[in-house]
Order: sequence, then structure tokens, then C-alpha cells
Amino acid sequence: MDGGATAVARAHSNIALVKYWGKRDAALNTPAVGSISVTLDALYTDTRVTFTPGLVADELWLAGCRVPATRISHVLDLVRGHAASMGLSAARLNAIVTSTNNFPTGAGLASSASGFAALAVAASGAAGLTLADRELSILARHGSGSAARSIFGGFAEMHAGTAADGSDAYAEELLDRAGWPLAVVVAITEHGEKSINSTIGMNESKASSPFYQAWLDSADDDLNEMRSAIRDRDFARLGQLSEYNCLKLHALMLTTRPALIYWNAATVAAMHAVAGLRAQGVPAYFTIDAGPQVKVLCLPGDAAAVQRAMVLVPGVLEARISALGPAACRLE
Ligand code: DP6
Repeated sequence: MDGGATAVARAHSNIALVKYWGKRDAALNTPAVGSISVTLDALYTDTRVTFTPGLVADELWLAGCRVPATRISHVLDLVRGHAASMGLSAARLNAIVTSTNNFPTGAGLASSASGFAALAVAASGAAGLTLADRELSILARHGSGSAARSIFGGFAEMHAGTAADGSDAYAEELLDRAGWPLAVVVAITEHGEKSINSTIGMNESKASSPFYQAWLDSADDDLNEMRSAIRDRDFARLGQLSEYNCLKLHALMLTTRPALIYWNAATVAAMHAVAGLRAQGVPAYFTIDAGPQVKVLCLPGDAAAVQRAMVLVPGVLEARISALGPAACRLE
């Protein structure tokens, strides 16, 4: 077959320092606000895509179990559309997709980010397409907004865009990981699936929180300030702003009806422990997504001390140290 029917890709998870919550256009999955993230070396997804003659429907296998393929089929349909315009045979074929994460799935560790970024790279590769990073980012965005950022390593910024067709809602690299090597300690407080997924949660926030408009109105200020903190390599500013933006997001979640309470007791204890580290002179700052895990931003030389402090927090099950990660890439 033209270009090879199988491809394997690896993409790393990311955590947002300035967060995405809310959609501009639900069908195109364009975000209502821009976002800035760091890609994590220690957490990744490997995905194999094989366009297969005779297959009646797309199949998705996650860690060896067959799961519904609806959301990935949407991304595969876009790949098949591109393939059709190039006259490639994948245009007419369904695919078998197998995917494994090296971390717990669906527990606020951004498995959809690494998963859809790996899918975008593997599916376009298996179809025989050569897409630019920007096109890969847009393709990944259709699966999950945060996935658009996992196409890139180091620091990435997602643009909300204004175009009606979503063509300017993509991420790009702000700075590569060698440009400012930071560390992130991921404190895991729960291994189970989270209760409300981000897509549903953000739609409920938009529909019901009195803080939603303020969230939209203040996003650009945070993005501008975070860009300058990264440009100036100002860690205290980056950290303080990350905590502020995270808590602003959680205020929005808490004032959604019904309330989105993603924290557990260990999440809150870990936040206090991070403040305790700062009181002892260790520059460390937390951020939390739509789940109970706490990610602590720190300098590489402090990562072991931060990890030790996190595993002492009651309810923290494990704490993993991660460097900043690379861009998504083909493995085969
Ligand atoms: C809190 O990217 O999972 O992690 O586009 O609906 O799939 P969908 O949402 P998703 O939302 C991520 C929300 C967040 C913040 C962030 O990563 O920016």
C-alpha cells in the first residue's frame, strides 16, 4: 500500500500552566481561551495505527481491552478525508488502533492529551500523509483540545484562534526543553477514573458558572504574563502565576452547577505541603487539572526533595519526577 499501512507513534503528556477550559465551537473543538503548557518526559502514550482492508469498523484497544472508538473515529475520519484528497488507499479503510499509557488513564494525568497527539502522528503516518506540525496539532485538537499541545516538546502555547473553520486554533512551541530545563513532580493521590470528564465539565461551567465570563476576560492577561515569565526564565513568576491560574480554574469548577469538585483530601494536603516547601526556601509551585493529582513545578536540583515531601503527604500514593519532554514522534 502507498506509504505503508502501519505506523507507531509516541507522544508525551502535558500539563497546562495557563489552562484551557471552555470551548469556542464544540463541533470543531476550538478552545474559548488560549493555554500554555509544559510537556512531560515521564508520562507518555504509544499508539499503533493499522489501516486494514476488510475491517467493518475502527477498533480501539487500550492496554489490551477493546473500548468504544467513537472519539478516535472522528480523528480517523479527518485523516481519511486528507488521504482521499491525496488519492491514498487509507481513505477507504478502517483502522485498528492499539494504545498503551505508562501511567493511570483518565485520572487527571492528561491521557487524552498524549493519546490524541500520538493518534494524530500515527494515523497520518499510517495513511501515508506528511503533515506539518501545525496540521498535526489541529488534527490532535479535534480529538482533545489539550492534545494539540502534546505535538510539541518543552513549552507550548495553544492559540484560541478566531477563524470560523478552526484553522488558527493550533499549538506551537514557545521554547524547547533545553531552553529552560524545569522539573515536575507528579503526586498521584488516586488511581481510579475521574468522575466528570473535561468535555462535559467545561460545557457545564460555561452553562452555569457566574465566573465563566471573568475566566474568559482574564485569560489574555495570564497568557501575556506567562509568556514573559518564560522569556525571562523567571521561575517564581511562572510558579506564582501557575498556582493563581490553577486556583482560578478550580474556582470556576467549584461554582459550576452541579459543582465540579476534583480534589480529594490528599490533593488539598499536597497543596499545603508545597506552601510548606516554599516556607523552607524550596521554590516549588503546584498545579492541578480536572482530577485529584497534584503536579509540582520545581527546579531540577530540588526535584528529589520535593518528591520526598510529597510522598510524606497522607494519601499521596506515589510521586514521580519528570523532566520536560520531547515532541511527539514516529517510533516505526
Ligand atoms: C483542565 O483537552 O481534556 O486539563 O478538548 O474536551 O478533550 P477536551 O478537553 P481536554 O481539557 C483539558 C482541561 C485541563 C486544562 C488543560 O489541559 O489546559
